[in-house]
Amino acid sequence: MRTKLSFLWCVWIYLCGSCVGRFVVEKNNLKITSPKSLRGIYECAIGNFGVPKYGGTMIGTVVFPRYNQNGCTKFNDGDTSLSAKPGSFPTFVLVDRGDCYFTLKAWNAQIGGAAAILVADDRVEPLITMDTPEEGNGATNDDYIEKITIPSALISKSLGDNIKSALKSGAMVNVNLDWREALPHPDERVEYELWTSSNDECGPKCESEINFLKGFKGAAQLLEQKGFTRFTPHYITWYCPEAFILSQQCKSQCINNGRYCAPDPEQDFSVGYDGKDVVIQNLRQACFFKVANESGKPWKWWDYVTDFAIRCPMRAKKYTEECSDQVAKSLGVDMNKIKDCIGDLRADVENPILKAEQDAQIGQGSRGDVTILPTLVINNRQYRGKLSKAAVLKALCASFQETTEPSICLTPDMETNECLANNGGCWKDKAANITACRDTFRGRVCECPIVQNVKFVGDGYTHCEASGPLRCAVNNGGCWQGSQGGRAYSACIDDHTKGCKCPPGFKGDGFHSCEDVDECKDKVACQCPECSCKNTWGSYECKCSNGLFYVRESDMCIGKYSASVSSGGFVWMLILILGIGGAGGYAFYKYRIQRYMDYEIRAIMAQYMPLDNQPENSNQVQHSV
Ligand SMILES: *[C@@H]1O[C@H](CO)[C@@H](O)[C@H](O)[C@H]1NC(C)=O
Ligand SMILES: *[C@@H]1O[C@H](CO)[C@@H](O)[C@H](O)[C@H]1NC(C)=O
Repeated sequence: MRTKLSFLWCVWIYLCGSCVGRFVVEKNNLKITSPKSLRGIYECAIGNFGVPKYGGTMIGTVVFPRYNQNGCTKFNDGDTSLSAKPGSFPTFVLVDRGDCYFTLKAWNAQIGGAAAILVADDRVEPLITMDTPEEGNGATNDDYIEKITIPSALISKSLGDNIKSALKSGAMVNVNLDWREALPHPDERVEYELWTSSNDECGPKCESEINFLKGFKGAAQLLEQKGFTRFTPHYITWYCPEAFILSQQCKSQCINNGRYCAPDPEQDFSVGYDGKDVVIQNLRQACFFKVANESGKPWKWWDYVTDFAIRCPMRAKKYTEECSDQVAKSLGVDMNKIKDCIGDLRADVENPILKAEQDAQIGQGSRGDVTILPTLVINNRQYRGKLSKAAVLKALCASFQETTEPSICLTPDMETNECLANNGGCWKDKAANITACRDTFRGRVCECPIVQNVKFVGDGYTHCEASGPLRCAVNNGGCWQGSQGGRAYSACIDDHTKGCKCPPGFKGDGFHSCEDVDECKDKVACQCPECSCKNTWGSYECKCSNGLFYVRESDMCIGKYSASVSSGGFVWMLILILGIGGAGGYAFYKYRIQRYMDYEIRAIMAQYMPLDNQPENSNQVQHSV
């Protein structure tokens, strides 16, 4: 698809015989996690607008609207709002291709609250790249295009049909859009190129390109100076076929005897600047870069092109050699070297710089031909999406080998702040102020956090809970706890790896509530005829009538038979019972300590090696209260 340049091409297409190129549709992965019948990884094509989350992933639930299925009108009519409900996945709206621009669908989806848009192709064909409408194409009021920030993906007709029928049958379709491998990230230096033009008279497209250059200049220069990136600017050039070299068109649009041409900026040969002026200025800019690069300061190119755009615009009739030279001079480059590089524009000879540009235009390896202007190429793969500072920086950051990203990638400026709205759709414990949402340059991630060395585990979206030793120290492990009359109970047990369990004397789920068990009413204890039972919180009191003693361990009253023994004998007996009880208790205590320590050591060892002999019921080792 080379629609983007078609208005340029239509000027040249009849001249240009051998430029049928190879356009590469850049893709990312769409993984369906449910329903089971559709589970799998599918390819989708990245739209050339909005902000793809290069380096990151996004999870969402697919919604196919009941009305407005092509997304050509606004979704915001109350009941069809696409905003994700709190605690649920973000919404990916699925719309049909056709009837209006892709960009309009994306814009409607975004203002309707969708987190991403999936466009189902309406015909069986290989994936295509969704692009922005061309200028002068009746795209009324297209300043919304710049405001699109949600990512977009085109999916095949068959996948679209399958998702629709799954939704129709009531299934929930959850997908994961994955851009982690959409750009290569082989090493600690990123090579990137911008295919551009000095033409500043192409409407909003040119304006947004210049705004990008201005906005991105600082970051680009910093990255280049520190050696994190190697940037090269490129300029698309056309040529005039032999038969037309003497034609008026080729004369006004080309230099070096028809070798290097550019389309007329106004698409009108009779007014304003000619294609020739654009080629010459492009050549000057390319030469500026060459000379600056040779002097070890390639980043000066960014100053040059932004200054030129400000000081020498076509509409002020300053798009001239004189103005250009002034800008170059002010940046302190060697003007003679630039003159040498430009050479004789009228001579029937090759210009090494422009020849190299024409050759580089042909795709190599993973990179397709450059046919969209402007085109950003990162690590020899074409970037798709809007050219904005944040979006491009994100893509560059994702193109470093993991952990070698420069610090600019990790500054708050790069963070997406998606956690601020609706907690990014991630899990959150409001009471304890613990969240799974984290903003990174790769986009927001929902990952159960580590708080005070306690690891939380879960899906990060709907559920996270503390796990491992010490977990009860943070927010009581998310478990119930309560105190009354000086007693405190907790449902968190430190040596569970997770989960909560009400302490003895309580019942409940352990997370939200544990209720006192009424031992008297529930006939759990103290049920003998002589007993009088009184429930307390977490326990009970039992008294025996007739001067009998209640023995808690055996839950019975004794003393009738021992009362016949002499009072001294009774005291001895009591001492004996207490003695045996005490010794037994101590032994039991030692045993518990030993088991607990064994368990702890095992737990530590288990992190390093598999143990075949785990305690069969570890929750017997517990310390409540
Ligand atoms: C820029 O300079 C570097 C090293 O000085 C060189 O390797 C590179 O090829 C140059 N780039 C261009 C486009 O001339
Ligand atoms: C919650 O924690 C965050 C970060 O630790 C902090 O900035 C914020 O003020 C806290 N909010 C409340 C309500 O405590």
